[in-house]
Amino acid sequence: MPSIQLKTPSASYEIVIASGLIKTLPARLKKLRGGKPFRPFIVTSPEIWGLWGKQVLAAFGKEQPTVLFLPAGEKHKRLRTVESLLEQMAAAGADRDALLVAFGGGVVGDVTGFLAAIYMRGVPYVQVPTTLLAQVDSSLGGKTGVNLAAGKNLVGSFYHPLAVLADTDLLKTLPAAELRAGLQESIKAGIIRDAKLFRYLEANAEAVLSGDAKALTHVVAASVRVKADVVANDERESGLRMILNYGHTLGHAIEAATQYKQLLHGEAVGWGSIAATRLGLMRGLIDEATSNRITELILRYGPLSDFKAAAAKLVKLTTSDKKNRSGTLSFVLPVKIGEAVIARDVTQDEMLAAAEWMLKLMRERGAKPTAKRSKKRK
Ligand SMILES: NC(=O)c1ccc[n+]([C@@H]2O[C@H](COP(=O)([O-])OP(=O)(O)OC[C@H]3O[C@@H](n4cnc5c(N)ncnc54)[C@H](O)[C@@H]3O)[C@@H](O)[C@H]2O)c1
Ligand SMILES: [Zn+2]
Repeated sequence: MPSIQLKTPSASYEIVIASGLIKTLPARLKKLRGGKPFRPFIVTSPEIWGLWGKQVLAAFGKEQPTVLFLPAGEKHKRLRTVESLLEQMAAAGADRDALLVAFGGGVVGDVTGFLAAIYMRGVPYVQVPTTLLAQVDSSLGGKTGVNLAAGKNLVGSFYHPLAVLADTDLLKTLPAAELRAGLQESIKAGIIRDAKLFRYLEANAEAVLSGDAKALTHVVAASVRVKADVVANDERESGLRMILNYGHTLGHAIEAATQYKQLLHGEAVGWGSIAATRLGLMRGLIDEATSNRITELILRYGPLSDFKAAAAKLVKLTTSDKKNRSGTLSFVLPVKIGEAVIARDVTQDEMLAAAEWMLKLMRERGAKPTAKRSKKRK
């Protein structure tokens, strides 16, 4: 079973990727605590627990964990949710022996990690990511936190889990659109650092998209390796880690322009990656054939919801992105499949041209709006 060690200056932990992991969750928690007494607190949301809770509780047998809930959805990734969970932990008698288990997608993971960072000045936690995005991205790297009205992820801390246990079986109940959107982060990983992963995604699209266990395990493991490798070299995002933002500069602008309601994050990243690829072509960093290959793979893992926004508005929004407030905008560009660079001299005109090209492609390809589905999620 794939197991990857993430080593940073402040932590070292294992990311295990396999089907059927939740059956061994209690034994793995015990091993992670190395014989020390501990009390497990599972943090999840009712929807996910409704699908998987029975199986998790069955694995625990007689020594049942305490289960705490937060409502699903990005709008609950807020300090008031954290406060409510902290109070529930205290009321349940949690002390320094508490071991938190984040059982959910990125929202549950980010909130639980933050909860673990601040409860009694820090208790350990384990990530059990249940979405593709959480398995390949949000559960690893130690970024935890919540949103403010002023912007996403503005409050939080770096706090690594004891381990990440990614059970690919959990993806069986994930809505198809969530799977496809999460896979855009895997495509990104391929573009920036792993040509083999990129080729695998090209050659095995059908198996991956249909949820084939072997294919998904392969893709999750390869994507995790890319992120673990990048984070190991730049834990606090002072340089290299920025390449993980491929497609995210315009992707975040698209999310902001549509009030975070119309597209899933990965879909916005898909469109943003198409624009970034175009910019790479415009600068002569990649050739047309490479640019087409990237664009076609992104669209193959769609359909990406479409949206209405003027290119000029998207460009304007890139400057208010939290990562660009210092004035110089960092823009990740492709050099070839498997390699990217961070450019700090991308002009507004270049972004405008790339965004316009991307919007034109969207109109030509007739992407379907899926706002209805997104509403259901909230
Ligand atoms: N910490 C980081 O480094 C990092 C990186 C990327 C993203 N993020 C954060 O991650 C969040 C997005 O995560 P996400 O895409 O997982 O969204 P999410 O947590 O909102 O989950 C998406 C939806 O899927 C449902 N769900 C989860 N697991 C399921 C399963 N197995 N079966 C059926 N339904 C399931 C959830 O209830 C929710 O409705 C954002 O808040 C983002 O800021 C954090
Ligand atoms: Zn992302």
